[in-house]
Amino acid sequence: MTSDATRIDWIGNSCRLLQETAAEYRQTKPFEGLTIGTGIHLEPKTVALLATLRAGGARLVCTGNLNSTQPATVDYLRAQGMTVFATQTTDPVAHHQSLEAVVAEKPDLLLDNGGDLFAIALERPYANLLGGTEETTSGRTRLLPLRDRLAMPILVINDSPIKQFAENRHAVGQSLFESYMRFTNRSTNGKRVTVFGYGACGKGTAACFRNAYSQVSVVDIDPVTVLEAHLDGFLTPLRDDAIRSADVLITVTGHPDIVTANDLPLIRHGAILLNGGHFPNEIDVAAFLTHPDVLSIDRYQADSIETLHMSDGRAIHILGGGHMANLAGPRPLGNSVESMDLGFTLQVRCLERVAKRGVGPEACIVPVPADIDAMVASAYLDLAR
Ligand SMILES: NC(=O)c1ccc[n+]([C@@H]2O[C@H](COP(=O)([O-])OP(=O)(O)OC[C@H]3O[C@@H](n4cnc5c(N)ncnc54)[C@H](O)[C@@H]3O)[C@@H](O)[C@H]2O)c1
Repeated sequence: MTSDATRIDWIGNSCRLLQETAAEYRQTKPFEGLTIGTGIHLEPKTVALLATLRAGGARLVCTGNLNSTQPATVDYLRAQGMTVFATQTTDPVAHHQSLEAVVAEKPDLLLDNGGDLFAIALERPYANLLGGTEETTSGRTRLLPLRDRLAMPILVINDSPIKQFAENRHAVGQSLFESYMRFTNRSTNGKRVTVFGYGACGKGTAACFRNAYSQVSVVDIDPVTVLEAHLDGFLTPLRDDAIRSADVLITVTGHPDIVTANDLPLIRHGAILLNGGHFPNEIDVAAFLTHPDVLSIDRYQADSIETLHMSDGRAIHILGGGHMANLAGPRPLGNSVESMDLGFTLQVRCLERVAKRGVGPEACIVPVPADIDAMVASAYLDLAR
């Protein structure tokens, strides 16, 4: 007998940790009577996360992040009876309305990705908010100055060592590499690749391109980190030289304005630019597109590539409009299932801890508790053995 199965089924069946956790939650129901508001990329892996929370008894009110919402995922979640406020959009105003709609439902717990939901909840506070989780580096950076005002448990998944090495180092590197090939169908061999940012994501990205026979340069503002890159065997030229030399230029810093219109004169003819950082502001694409030296722009709509033709004859290519390349363009796959299965299991265990009042307001913007890291690591290893 054969049956039609979808990508969502494939991903769900590949998330073995979440499946195991969901089976436990069907018995224990840690979220019974609670509403969880989520603001995280709506793509097939998220379905497995949301299904696990629902197995634990939660009512779910969901939205995604800018530009990464996959309509098939939204349709699927709605068919499962979840409330979803989301459209596939690059318009920050439209996206903000979806975020506001989630918070307006007064969720008891928030699962945030980039600090958007907690920032809105701070502007429009309500009594039943217990706390929740934040997924990213960028969200932690944004919420940290608001710590005193938030004063509720918010566990930062990014700061788990598991998230750092499983997702940021290994998976982001692999998926940005996969994205470069998926967008362009070009080779990596012998290409001069410059990676901006040698944090966890940058380390994996630099390693993946080196393993694919590229000559990789690293740029970072922290001299200690640059030394590490140097000792890891990467070229560490000065910033402007690294831009001048790049056939492929990748930003993955978590900070805005890493490559701006001022750098346009430095960029080589034929260079390909892509971003892996959370927000689409690391490469100032808007300033590039409107620069007076740009004579014309070819838009490869279906492939999400823009080619800028400069007045001096150079052509410069930008992938995915500067949005996270691994969640943009044709058939975006995002990070590997295994890395997300681990990260999302940290998510559900942390939300469970907050739901059970196992942490208090002192745990505002703190890493995942070490016992949760140990529990999730052991569970993964048990399945791998
Ligand atoms: N694409 C994805 O799937 C994905 C997944 C996880 C994280 N992220 C995002 O990737 C970004 C980086 O995450 P991370 O965990 O590697 O962060 P990190 O803090 O570990 O590393 C960032 C690095 O960038 C460097 N940096 C800062 N400003 C710089 C500048 N002007 N020029 C050069 N280097 C600079 C820092 O010194 C640091 O070494 C964040 O925005 C994060 O949210 C993306």
